[in-house]
Amino acid sequence: MNDLKHVAIIMDGNGRWAKKRGLKRVDGHKKGAEVVKEITTYCANNPEIETLTLYAFSTENWKRPKIEVDFLMKLLDIWLKKELPSYIENGVKFDVIGDISKFSSNLIKRIEYTKERTKEHKKLTQILALNYGSQDEITRAVKKMVKNNEEICAKNIQKYLDLPYDIDLLIRTSGEIRVSNFLLWQIAYAEMFFTPTLWPDFTSGELEEIIGKYKIIQRRFGGI
Ligand code: FPP
Repeated sequence: MNDLKHVAIIMDGNGRWAKKRGLKRVDGHKKGAEVVKEITTYCANNPEIETLTLYAFSTENWKRPKIEVDFLMKLLDIWLKKELPSYIENGVKFDVIGDISKFSSNLIKRIEYTKERTKEHKKLTQILALNYGSQDEITRAVKKMVKNNEEICAKNIQKYLDLPYDIDLLIRTSGEIRVSNFLLWQIAYAEMFFTPTLWPDFTSGELEEIIGKYKIIQRRFGGI
């Protein structure tokens, strides 16, 4: 049976979920945020899972209409404020990867405050990828390595990544079979599952089913 320490999810399909119901795209994001809570709580109560990394806003998502980008920023701010008690209750440490320097100073403060208030929690680390793109992450890592005059090798590149850990299980919802610039380095040997379920319909039950399948895959990491 495979160990499962690090789960990463590309949460896709909020817009389609809303459209199917005659709702606005932002309603899909609202429902999507509720699912973030359910999945985080499930992972916090699964003693094996140490880290859950979620793709919440990519470097490419700025191309969306300003009204949607603004909504996503506002939603994150409100959500972090509202969910702080649940991070505390579930022993979840909150962290972020990506370049949040372009976010509003209020949102940066909220993010830093949530990180600070949850930094001692041990049951699960929930990492939100925010203004994150893997090519950007790798480029920033290589720049730091070169600036520090370090030997160019995989170990040093990994050391400077925002997320210097491997992913065991990568899930993408909504039926799209691609990785969209998410954790390209870290998924080198990840097992990948693509489900047609739209993110707002994703449940801890489906996650549990996927984990059941993951556990019995023969992972060889390039060996035999
Ligand atoms: C992809 O669906 C989803 C996003 C780009 C944003 C992810 C945001 C959430 C899950 C909700 C907010 C999260 C937190 C942590 C508060 P899409 O809009 O690309 O859907 P589509 O492909 O059907 O259009």
